[in-house]
Order: sequence, then C-alpha cells, then structure tokens
Amino acid sequence: MQNKVRTAIIGLPQEHARQLHAFLRRVVDVALVREDPRDAMSPLLVARPQAVLLYLPEADGVGIQFARRMRSELPDTALVLLCHVEDVTLTREAMRLGARALIVVGKDDDDLARTFMQLAEEQRSDMPGGEVVTLLGSKGGVGVTSLAMNLAGALAIDPSLRVALIDLSPYLGEIGVYLQLDTTVSPRTLVRESLMIDDEWIQNAVPRHSLGFSVFAQPLKPGAPPLNVADIAQSIGILRRLFTHVIIDAGTGGTELGFAALAVASKPLLVAGGDTPSLVAAQRALHTLKALGQDPRRIWTVLNASAPEALDLSRARSILGADPTLTFPHDRKAVDVSLHTGRLVVESAPDSELTQAFLRAAMGMCDDYRPSINSGPGGKRKKLFGLF
Ligand SMILES: Nc1ncnc2c1ncn2[C@@H]1O[C@H](COP(=O)(O)OP(=O)(O)O)[C@@H](O)[C@H]1O
Ligand SMILES: [Mg+2]
Repeated sequence: MQNKVRTAIIGLPQEHARQLHAFLRRVVDVALVREDPRDAMSPLLVARPQAVLLYLPEADGVGIQFARRMRSELPDTALVLLCHVEDVTLTREAMRLGARALIVVGKDDDDLARTFMQLAEEQRSDMPGGEVVTLLGSKGGVGVTSLAMNLAGALAIDPSLRVALIDLSPYLGEIGVYLQLDTTVSPRTLVRESLMIDDEWIQNAVPRHSLGFSVFAQPLKPGAPPLNVADIAQSIGILRRLFTHVIIDAGTGGTELGFAALAVASKPLLVAGGDTPSLVAAQRALHTLKALGQDPRRIWTVLNASAPEALDLSRARSILGADPTLTFPHDRKAVDVSLHTGRLVVESAPDSELTQAFLRAAMGMCDDYRPSINSGPGGKRKKLFGLF
C-alpha cells in the first residue's frame, strides 16, 4: 500500500482544494483545508501535518507572511508552493523559505505528484519493510546471477513470502535470458509509475516466474539512459513495501550502482568464487566499502564454487579475514539442466546439495521459512523436506 503524506491545503477555494486532492489522492491525506491563510495558523498548529500545500496568488501577499510564520512555528513540515505564473520574485521567495517545490499549476503537475511521492518515500524509509538482499560479485562469472535467481526461487516456494527479483545489469537482460522470461518492467518504470503502483498493478503488469516471484530488469533498448543511484533507492523503497523479499542482482565489481544497491540492502551479499583472484577482489571491495563509510561487518561474504575446484575455506578465511557467511557447492550437472530447461536448480534438482544450500540461505533470511514445491507437472504441492 502507498503511504500517504498528511497535508494541509491552504489558500485555495474548497472546490479547487478538492480537485487537487483528487489528483493527489494516492499520496495525500488531507489534514486541513483553509482558503484564507489568515485563518490557518491555529488549526495548523493543532493538526501538525507533514506537509503544507500553499497557493500563492502573488509574491508579497498574506500567503508569504503565512509561509514565513509556518517556517518558524513548524520547521519540520515540508512546504510546497503553488502559483499560476512563474515569477522571479516568487522563485527567490520560495528558495528563502526553503520550500520543497514551487509548482506552476497546470504546467508542472507531474512535478507536484513527484514531490509528494518523494515526501512519502522519505517518511517510509524509517518504516519496517521487506528484506532487501543485494548480491554483488567481486568479479565476473562468480555466479551472482545464478545465486540471485535460485535464492528468489527458494524464497518464493514458501507460499507466505512475496518475492521480487531485480536484474541491474544494463541492456543484457541476463536474468530474462536464463529464466526465458520477457522482462518488460524496469526499476525506472516503478519510479515513473509510482503513483499507480499497488498489489494489483504488480499482479497485472510485472512478469512473473512460475515459482511466483516478480522479475524486474533494466530496459533492453540500447540508448535508454541507464539506471542511476536515485532510481535504485526509490524503486527499492517502493518494492520493500509490496514484497517480503527483494533480491537484487547487482552484477559485478565496484560500480556506483552496485555499491548503492549494496548500501540500501538489509542483507548485503558480496559473492566470490573459490579462486584467489575473486577472493582478493572481494577483499578489495570490502576495503572500498569501508572507505565509503560502510561497516564491512554488515556484509555477508559468500563463496560460490562456480568452477569445479574444491573450495579452500582456510585460504578464503585468510584472504577475507573471516569465515564466509554462506558457501555454495559446485554442481555442474544441476546448473546445466537448469540452464537448458529454463527451470531453476531448486526446481530441477530439488534433492541436490546445491538446492539444500539455497534453502539454508533462504532460511537465514526469514523468521519462519516453510518451503513447499510442486512434485511435478500436474502434481500436488508437497512439502520439500520432512524437516519443515
Ligand atoms: N555453484 C555452481 N555450480 C556450477 N556452476 C555454477 C555455479 N554457480 C555458477 N555456475 C556457472 O558459472 C557461470 C557463471 O554464472 P553466472 O551466474 O552467470 O555468474 P555472474 O552473474 O557472476 O557473472 C555460469 O555458467 C553458471 O552456470
Ligand atoms: Mg550475472
């Protein structure tokens, strides 16, 4: 559900205030409406809204006096100004008042909606939401995409969980290829359409894997602007409220986007293969994250045997400085079958060690994990393990 911003609408006749509320109804709850700003201060101090939407017919009228007073009495309340014509004096005044936005009615209406979405976002960032699990590879080919997809699958086979998988790699649509899914919805769509997004929108618009998780990927169109850090933060903020788990394939290496996706995660996973170069790269990534102000102890280190050589845990420990949080065994056969059938390892090789490792990882990410899976085409849903 969208979270709404409690807002006072000041300076507009009732009818216009109603129209404005209808336009913003998904993000705004009206706490107070006053046409004359001179009558508004006392009820405003009682109502203590999160935002004030103030219409200013001119740059030096009672509206401005009200805004100045509001600034000193309610400094934490966001001020959004509306006007009919852009005017330098008004723009300066808006800046002096520290207004969130100066909106020209009928011209910047989208900006108005966006401003309130952002306010709603900021409010929500303190609220509890789903787990955000970001997987970043220390180096190419360590298995980030394989782990992200199978982890999403392992979580999604618990019918009480709602899982989203996001592919951040630009243009390649790797996850779509692996899963044989046409990934049509990008995280940027979420930001652009955020006024529209609720459970129903997700059900109807977002491609879903047969295990039930929703898949988002960057647009495949070359030339489309790549995602930026703000897109990531905002789209994850939206998804956290609709899903219990948001799994992000952040690709490889020290890109700004990858580090940003790691920084917003509640469970940040840094993935290395068993080989020395990828372990050393992981150790460097931990240093970089520390230099960027992150606590490296927060990061889960993950060792995935993407190559057939056995994992050398003591070497991993000596390079990373600690035991890896999770390890995944090599299973060429299970992975190959999965690739050829477009099914995940957790589906096509439910009894494999690798599947067990995915289920254990999923268990570590839920309070009460209860997986069940179809026993085959047309089969009944059965519990995967007697254990659960
Ligand atoms: N645990 C594993 N066992 C066997 N093969 C694996 C394993 N993990 C990954 N692979 C294989 O390694 C290759 C790279 O995996 P991928 O997930 O695409 O890595 P990345 O996204 O980090 O580039 C793929 O061919 C994949 O099938
Ligand atoms: Mg990948």
